[in-house]
Amino acid sequence: MDTATAYKGKVLVAGATGKTGQWVVRRLLHYGVPVRVFSREREKALSMFGESVEIVTGKIQSDVDIADAVTGCDAVISALGSSSVSGESSPGEVDRDGVIRLIDESAKKGVKHFGIVSSMAVTKWYHPLNLFGGVLLKKWEAEEHLRKVFSQAGRTYTIVRPGGLKDGEPLHHKLHVDIGDRLWSGWINRSDVAELLVVALWLDKAKNKTFEVINEAEEEQKGLEKYYDRLPE
Ligand SMILES: NC(=O)c1ccc[n+]([C@@H]2O[C@H](COP(=O)([O-])OP(=O)(O)OC[C@H]3O[C@@H](n4cnc5c(N)ncnc54)[C@H](OP(=O)(O)O)[C@@H]3O)[C@@H](O)[C@H]2O)c1
Repeated sequence: MDTATAYKGKVLVAGATGKTGQWVVRRLLHYGVPVRVFSREREKALSMFGESVEIVTGKIQSDVDIADAVTGCDAVISALGSSSVSGESSPGEVDRDGVIRLIDESAKKGVKHFGIVSSMAVTKWYHPLNLFGGVLLKKWEAEEHLRKVFSQAGRTYTIVRPGGLKDGEPLHHKLHVDIGDRLWSGWINRSDVAELLVVALWLDKAKNKTFEVINEAEEEQKGLEKYYDRLPE
């Protein structure tokens, strides 16, 4: 399947009220894909997306809430991210345990594809960002779990590891993609990260891929599908 119009599944977006998550929702709606969002705050999600999406309220700490959210969805895209060193929004609770819970409940409920926003440098335990609650290490553990669970028969995954995130419209930059976590610096628009995860839903060549991505230069793009052809083997 290689076109948006061929994709008919419903997609759950976790972290939909975040800066990248909002772009994931917008790009899904742009392609006419039905969206359900999973949010802690119904009013916040409603004020952002109105009636254009289904909203399921719950906590990422609750198996039951997540099971409700994923039931009936064909794919999940997670743009969850921690925002405090400790407590319910810490890297351990959100980037690792929350995402792992979402992966496991998704697999149990028959979700076919799982896309996630991870981070460049996620394999570098000595990276200074790990001073923030071991955030990169926690993301790496979640990535490993996703690769294990969603590479099994009938399931697929796409893991995008962006450089530093910036705001702005999608498709305004030529991108540089790589694998093996060899990049050390670079920026990318959240909207392009969202676009890469959305087109991965219907691109066979995007399945079971883990890759880094940053901006190379300002340059209008017709689409980002071509970057999946450019991933090194
Ligand atoms: N910032 C960077 O330069 C950078 C670089 C590489 C990768 N990343 C990663 O990219 C991802 C997206 O970043 P972003 O800047 O778009 O993030 P963001 O705006 O902070 O959004 C994070 C999302 O996670 C949700 N969340 C946080 N704690 C939660 C909890 N306890 N339970 C349920 N939901 C929770 C937030 O919900 P609420 O809206 O309800 O708070 C929000 O929807 C993150 O994983 C981040 O680590 C960031």
